[in-house]
Amino acid sequence: MGKQHYQITVNGEPQDVLAEPRELLIHTLREQLRITGPHIGCETSHCGACTVDIDGRSVKSCTVFTAQVAGKEITTVEGLGSPDAMHPLQEAFREHHGLQCGYCTPGMITRAYRLLQENPSPTEEEVRFGMAGNLCRCTGYQNIVKAILAAAAEMNASKEAAE
Ligand code: FES
Ligand code: FES
Repeated sequence: MGKQHYQITVNGEPQDVLAEPRELLIHTLREQLRITGPHIGCETSHCGACTVDIDGRSVKSCTVFTAQVAGKEITTVEGLGSPDAMHPLQEAFREHHGLQCGYCTPGMITRAYRLLQENPSPTEEEVRFGMAGNLCRCTGYQNIVKAILAAAAEMNASKEAAE
């Protein structure tokens, strides 16, 4: 079967993409839409560098075909914040040195975003468990965990202040 059109929404924008049924979502995002936040690490579902959010769930975008996400809402790290208006997680990773080379970071932040949506006040153990599908070769994880806990505290404080 040749290429077909699929409608997907990425970071709030409807997109018409042309892909073969076997094309992986990570390739459509990076090569066709030039959304290069999600990285390709292992392409075998181990590292989590390609993590995106699909209809409210963390998904490794090297494990799904673009055809499978037709009609769905996809959020990448680009959709969480921008350099001028960073998401609290992005701020916290910067503040607490939650990265070194940065290769794992977009996937880490996108996964952490969903983790905090599901559990806004996680314990350290819950953060480590929830992030177990995302690997980092540089940091030793300590500062990643610290950044996620700090972002959770910050997000909870802003929520309380707004109430
Ligand atoms: S590139 Fe998808 S999990 Fe490693
Ligand atoms: S910061 Fe280098 S892989 Fe995580």
